Parts: sequence; structure tokens; C-alpha cells
Amino acid sequence: MLKPIFASTRCLLCVFVLYLNTMYAQERHRPAYHFTPPKAWMNDPNGMVYYAGEYHLFYQHYPDATVWGPMHWGHAVSTDLVHWQHLPIALYPDSLGYIFSGSAVVDWHNTSGLGKNNEPPLIAIFTYHDMAAEKRGATNFQSQAIAYSHDKGRTWTKYAGNPVIPNQGIKDFRDPKVSWDNIHQQWVMVLAVQDHVEFWVSSNLLQWQYASSFGKTWGAHGGVWECPDFFMLQDPSTQQTRWVLLSSINPGGPNHGSATQYFIGDFDGNVFQLDKKFEESLQRNKAIWLDHGRDNYAGVTWSDVPKEDGRRIFLGWMSNWDYANQVPTDTWRSANTLPRTLALVATKQGYRLASLPVKEVKKLFLPQKYEARAIQLKSDKPFEPALTFAPTLSVVTLRFDVPQQPQGELIIEFSNTQKEVYTVGYDLVNKQFFSNRIKAGKNDFSTDFAKQIHVAPRILDTKTIELQVFFDVSSAELFADKGTINMTELFFPATPFTKIQIMQTHGTSHVQYFAIQPLKGAF
Ligand code: FRU
Repeated sequence: MLKPIFASTRCLLCVFVLYLNTMYAQERHRPAYHFTPPKAWMNDPNGMVYYAGEYHLFYQHYPDATVWGPMHWGHAVSTDLVHWQHLPIALYPDSLGYIFSGSAVVDWHNTSGLGKNNEPPLIAIFTYHDMAAEKRGATNFQSQAIAYSHDKGRTWTKYAGNPVIPNQGIKDFRDPKVSWDNIHQQWVMVLAVQDHVEFWVSSNLLQWQYASSFGKTWGAHGGVWECPDFFMLQDPSTQQTRWVLLSSINPGGPNHGSATQYFIGDFDGNVFQLDKKFEESLQRNKAIWLDHGRDNYAGVTWSDVPKEDGRRIFLGWMSNWDYANQVPTDTWRSANTLPRTLALVATKQGYRLASLPVKEVKKLFLPQKYEARAIQLKSDKPFEPALTFAPTLSVVTLRFDVPQQPQGELIIEFSNTQKEVYTVGYDLVNKQFFSNRIKAGKNDFSTDFAKQIHVAPRILDTKTIELQVFFDVSSAELFADKGTINMTELFFPATPFTKIQIMQTHGTSHVQYFAIQPLKGAF
């Protein structure tokens, strides 16, 4: 009597194990604390706005495949920027086109007249991309439109008067980022237009006037400009304010493909003008990059973060158009970067932008942190910490002295039992940070995913360097020199990276501090 039951239980167990294996294979490489769509394709973050205790995150989404397709706005909310709740799709394509990237604001004073019951409406401003018109050979297939919500972003109504900015025949005319300019008491929209941005202004979000253009003769021009952002930041030491313009560009990034450049200057309500020192830097360097890694694109910042909080919080799409459609994940594609706080840093070459992970990420820190101090790293002797946990989800901190006569490279090496390695570190001779994923796992899905080592020249010249790297299964985010250097990179190891060590290639380095902070997943 017992035997058949036992056999069928065993059989059930087998099916269950098989199911788990399949699930593992399908979910392989999915980050544990970075935002990913529940299934299918995601690209740019969109419509980021804070309202009634919730951070809204919308995103470019194609729910029917793991490759780019007819664009919708996916939706999620969070109360802490770390834990996210997935919500139903917010905007669907319609007869005017696909729903391309854009922004959202709280219309606090109901300037649009679209509010109801004394509640400010949420207004989303996005680009319609009319695919049929593009296929017909038209040039005016992108226009700007709005939608509004009366229920905290849960449902949206498209405005009957769309588009609010029609197109006069410019092929690349998209990605409106709108904010309230408190100084000039107006709504400002920054729009990506081929090789530059345009500023548009409005009093009611419905009627817009063209104000000016910027960028034709400044910055990188290896590709089309996309997904701009425009906001003010205050220098904490002088209380001076500056306007920051972000502009993503594809291709033409510092290490190939997609990347985001920035500009710092002033805005008189119509025209954006570069700071003198920033202008001089651009004459020398062509472009100043927000992130030198290959996987931080189309990032913009949250609107309406409360004044008491005061942060300017950025989120990027952790991929690159060079290979986004080919990365080896099965049921979903793409993640976002960690949310980052942006700040102005005064340097000898003028203001620079610093990005550091939001403080809420500390919620994920587990108690058993590894710490070591005063390590003399010699070229023939890697230092391997005795860990009681796998560093697959971790933050590695390294603080070291820059020697009088710099030699070699200081490397953090991450590896697995398959001998796959990812390295990130600092080249003391060439004064640049680097990220090397050439041997970090699967890379045959694209010819240029892992062709070369990616580098980021140092901006500061202090005698001590501190860097932090956030690892999450298949990504590393480097934050160095107070956040002035960022490198965000993906990799796809066959099995998780479980070993970590630091090493010096030539000469000796004095490591003041080395720590590995394990993290728990957020989902
Ligand atoms: C940037 C981008 C945007 C566009 C969207 C389409 O990654 O090309 O310019 O609105 O993606 O999905």
C-alpha cells in the first residue's frame, strides 16, 4: 500500500526540483536589489515623480517580448526607493503612436485646470512616436503629449487636445523632461532634438513656447541626443546655485555606445549659459560624463521630492543600446541603476557632478561586515579576506594612499569556480579607474560587449583615494572620489561570483581600509 504513495511522492519531488532548476535558469542573472521588470522588456526610466509618500517609477516597456517593441509605460511605486511594488501598465500605445520617454510632475496649483476635487493632478508629459507615419517616410512622427491622473497615478487619461507640441518635421524630437522653475515662475521643458536640446516654457503645461536651444557646438556628438534633464543644485559650501543639464547620447559614449554627459551653467528663464570654467574644460575634453561605465543610460531625476528632503535623485537604465536586446537573460530584460543622489562638487576645473547611492540602500546591509585596516599590498601577493559569506550581493570599500612614485594597478577581483573574473580598480600610473569584464562570463551575444577594458580618468587629485563598488549578481557600480567618478557595468558569469581578493600588479600599495558589506535582496 505504502510503496506507490512513496514512489509518487518521489516523483513529485523530482518534478519540483526540475521546476526549481528551470526557474533558476530562467531567472539567472536577475539582480537581487536593483529594479527589474517582472517580465519582458524594459528600457528608460520615465515619469519619475514623488507624490503622497510614494516614489513613482514608470519605464519604457514592451510587455509581449524580451526585445524592444511597441512602447508602453510600465509602472511601480516605492516608499523608500529600495523596495518596489509593481503596478499595472500605466499608458498603452494608441492611434497617435507608441508611448516614448517622458516625465511627470505634480501640478500643485492646478495651472493646467485638469485637477479635480481640490487635489492636484499628476501630469505625465511624453513623446508619441507614430510608427506608421515613420514607415511611410514622414519626418514629423514624434510629438509631445500629456496624460493626467486623479488617483495617485493608478489610472491615466490622455488629454483630448494632444499633441501639446506638434512636430514641424524634425525626425528626432522627443523625451520631454518638465519641471517647475520657481525662480522664473514657469514650467520648463527640455527636449532632445537631434544633436542638441531645446528649452520650451509654459504657464499651464498645455500651451508651450519655444525659448532657446543649446548644445550644437558643445559636448559629445557621436550620436543622437536623448532623454535630457534640467534642474538646479546648490553648492553646500557656498549656497550658490547652478543649473545642471543632463543629456544622454547614443552612440558616442566615452567607452562606446550609450552614455550620459552633463553641462553646468546658469539659466535666465530663456537661455542656458555654461559656467566659464566648465566651458574651458569642455574645450579641453569635449565632453564631461556622468558615468564612464557602459551601462548607465537615459537616466533622469525625480520631480517633486519634498523640500525638507532636498535631494535630487537620479536613476538610469542599466544597459546600452549596443547590446541591450541581446543580453543573456530569459524572461526579462534590463535593470535600473541604484537610485543616486546628485550633488555639486567644486574642483579646480570648476563644478563637477557627484553621484552616490541614496542612503536608503543601507536598509539592505546585513550585520556581518568584514573589515581590515593597514594592509601592505605587494605585487606578488594578493590579499584574500576570510569571509563568512559570499560577496555576490555586497558593497566593497577600499581606501588607499596614492604613493609618491605610483606603480601598477590596484585591483579588486571578483571570481567564481569556473575561473571567470571581473576586475575593477585604479591604474596608478595612468591616473584612471577601470572596469574589466573581458573574462567575466558570457559575452558572445555581442561583438563589442567585452572587447576592451573601460576607463575613467580621475578628476580629483587628493592623496587618498576611496572607492566603493556595489555588486549585485550581474552588475557592479563603482563610486570613487566622493562620487565624481562612476562606472556602471554588467557581466554574465555562468555561476555567481563567490570569491573576492585585492591585489597590486607592480610595486606596493598601502591600503588604509578594506571592507566588504554583505547585502540582502530587496525583492
Ligand atoms: C532612449 C530612447 C528614447 C526614446 C525611447 C524609446 O533610450 O531611444 O529617446 O524615447 O528610448 O523606447
